[in-house]
Amino acid sequence: MSTLTARAVAVLTDADPAGKAKRAHAMAADWAQGRIGSLGDTRPPTRPARPERPQLKRPGDMPKRKINRGTAGRFALLHALAHIELNAIDLACDILARFPEQGLPNAFHDDWLRVAEEEAKHFLLLEERLGELGGSYGDLPAHDGLWQAAEDTAGDLLARLAVVPLVLEARGLDVTPAMIAKLKAVDDHRSAGVLEIIYRDEVGHVAIGKRWFDHLCQRDGADPRRTWQDLVRRHFKGQLKPPFNEDARRQANLPPDFYTALADL
Ligand SMILES: [Fe+2]
Ligand SMILES: [Fe+2]
Repeated sequence: MSTLTARAVAVLTDADPAGKAKRAHAMAADWAQGRIGSLGDTRPPTRPARPERPQLKRPGDMPKRKINRGTAGRFALLHALAHIELNAIDLACDILARFPEQGLPNAFHDDWLRVAEEEAKHFLLLEERLGELGGSYGDLPAHDGLWQAAEDTAGDLLARLAVVPLVLEARGLDVTPAMIAKLKAVDDHRSAGVLEIIYRDEVGHVAIGKRWFDHLCQRDGADPRRTWQDLVRRHFKGQLKPPFNEDARRQANLPPDFYTALADL
C-alpha cells in the first residue's frame, strides 16, 4: 500500500503538467477510498519538476496582458493563471509531504488533498480553455517567482500557512472579480465561467489555510493575529495591496483586523 508522502512526492516530481494533475486526482481518490495506508516519510524535493516549456523568466520581464476582444491578451491572462495553478498543485502536495512529523489529525490531510485536487481541476480547466483559444500551456514564458514563498517557508508550517494561503491565495480573491467582469464585458463567458469556479474554490482554500493556522496557534498557545502579522512581516517582502475583497476574506474567516495593519494604505 502506498503512503501519502510518497504519493505527494510523485506529483511533485512529475514534470508533465497533465501527468501532475492526473496524479493529484488519483491521490485524492485513493486517500478517500482508504487505499493509502499511512503518511510515510518520503521527503519532498526542494523544487518540483517542471516541463521544458514554458520558459521561466523574472517577473519584471513578463509581457503585459490587456483583456479585450482580441485573443492574445486573454490567452496571456489564462496562461499566467494556468502557471499559478500548476504551482498551486505542487504547493498543496508540498504541504502534504513536508510536515508529516507535526502529528496533525486526518482532517488536515483531507483538507489539503481537497486543495490539491481542486488546483489540478483549475489547471485542467484553464488548459482546456487555452486549447479553445488555439494554443496550450507552455506557449508563453511564465514567471519564476512563485516557488520562492515555498522555499522561504520550507522549515516552518505556520509560516507556510501564513504566507501561501493567507497572503498569496487571499490576494487572488482580491483581484479575480475584476478579471471576471472584464472577461464578461468582452463576451468571453467561457473564460469568465472558469474563473468563477476557481474563485469559489479559492475562498475554500483560504478558509482551509486559516483553519489550520488557527489550529496550530491554539495548540501552541499563540495569539493568531499577532503571530500571523509577525510571520508575514518576516517572510513576505513588501506590504499587502488594497483594495481588499473584505466579503470573500470574511467568508474565509480572515477578518480585516488581521491584514489592514500590514496594508500599503
Ligand atoms: Fe486554484
Ligand atoms: Fe488555491
